Order: sequence, then C-alpha cells, then structure tokens
Amino acid sequence: MADCYSPVGVFDSGLGGLTVAREIIRQIPDERIVYFGDTARVPYGSKSKDTIIRYTDQILRFLDTQDVKAIVVACNTVSSYALEEVRDHVNVPIIGVVKPGARVAAATTVNRKIGILGTEGTVASGMYPRFIGELNPEIEVTQKACPLLCPLVEEGWWNNDVTFSVLHRYLEPIQASGADTLILGCTHYPLLRSAIREVMGEKVNLVNPAYETAIELRRLLTEKGLLYPESGENGKAEEKYRFFVSDDPERFCRFATSVLKFDIEKAEKVNIESF
Ligand code: DGL
Repeated sequence: MADCYSPVGVFDSGLGGLTVAREIIRQIPDERIVYFGDTARVPYGSKSKDTIIRYTDQILRFLDTQDVKAIVVACNTVSSYALEEVRDHVNVPIIGVVKPGARVAAATTVNRKIGILGTEGTVASGMYPRFIGELNPEIEVTQKACPLLCPLVEEGWWNNDVTFSVLHRYLEPIQASGADTLILGCTHYPLLRSAIREVMGEKVNLVNPAYETAIELRRLLTEKGLLYPESGENGKAEEKYRFFVSDDPERFCRFATSVLKFDIEKAEKVNIESF
C-alpha cells in the first residue's frame, strides 16, 4: 500500500516529460520520482486516440508495479486524449498538464486572447480550448499544431537558424491573432522557450503548464496526507529518482542529464508491451 514515502509516477511519450519532472524536483525536492519515458513508441502526437489510450493503460499497469502514490501525466497529448478515459483504471490520484496550463493561461491573459502550440493530437482533441472556455467563454483561442518542433528539440537544435525559421512559420497565426498569452502545450517546447521568446517578443506571456502542474501536485499530495515529509536535506539524486524507458537507455540518459542538470547514469529498459 502506497504511503507518503512512496514515489510519484511521472510518465511521457519519451523525453519531453523531463521538463515536468524538472519542475516537480524544483518545487518539491523531497519527493521520490519514478519516471517512465516511452522512447520506443514516441511520438504520440501523431497517433490516434485509441492507440494513446492503449499505451497509457500499459504504462499505468507498469507504474502500479512501482507502488506509486500518485501519477502525473507529463504529456499534453496523453492528458488531452486519454486522461479522462483512464482515470478510473488506477486507484491513486492522477493529474495531467492540460487543465493546470489552461487555468494559468486564463488567469494571465489581459486582452482575452490565448495562443496554444501543441502536437497534432493535442490540437485535434480541442481540450485546451474546452477547459479555457469553461473558465471564461469570452476568451478567444488560436491553436497551432507544430509537428516539427519535437524532432528539433530531440536533435538538440534549441537555438539555431533552422529552428528559428520553423518557429517563424508556426508562430505567424498566433502573432496575427494578437494573443498576449501563449501556452507551450507540448512538454518539449519549454526547451525552446528562449527561441520562442525571441520570435514572440517580450510582451507575450509564455505559459509552461509544468509549473502549475507541480503546484497542483503539491496541493493534491498535501490534501491526501501523501506529501513526503520535508527533510531539508537534498539526498542523492540516484536514490531519489528512478528512470525507466522502453528503448535505448543511453540516449535517454544523455538527454535527461542535459535537461535535469545532474548526472543520470542509469535508466532501466522495460518491455512495456508486456503490461
Ligand atoms: N510529450 C508529447 C506532448 O507533450 C510530445 C511528444 C510526442 O509527440 O510524443 O504532447
């Protein structure tokens, strides 16, 4: 039976969810984390809803074997397509990144115009506009699917001329809409934050849903009496965080080290299809 000392399960289609793990580590450093990245089956962004739900169920069954006390769906595509469908399949609290992102954007916009960048799946699901509309029906939303951005991020091209030229194309409709707030609605995009900032200018608020998701996680764990007791000590990263992937651990470790800024020497390979 999971208790406050149990880890939080965090999962993504691959590497991008590390930006969410990074925020959780920053805001609630005592928490233990089990991270799963479905690196063999990424990208999720162009896959059908049925496939995403099937993959998600397998990952939830894997996380169940890790005795997690709560689950963070650190993937916008899964949060959009599958979260509501699978919520009842687990008996621990589960949260996604879309609702927290929508909430902070709706609270931030002054001119009631919000832009959203996401995968094809996230945009097609219409979840961000739906949640924003529930919060304030007067807000105008402009979405743009950006399928080229994830490969650029994974290639490490966070700041080069190709990335800028792709960003100019993708951001054009958002700029034309006059949005004063832009949701980075895919877990990879916070890694392009400075490039996006350069194209959009200083006046547009960039919303990283990971920030609000970590706040919501802390709130949820506190409410359920599951928050890891504060120790004031940092503890060793290799003891606090465990990483699992469905493909080559080496590539994952290199990328994770560059995102989390501490050495990730080990990730364990899981045959996720067997769950
Ligand atoms: N992690 C995914 C998301 O946030 C992006 C990568 C993918 O397409 O799988 O939507």
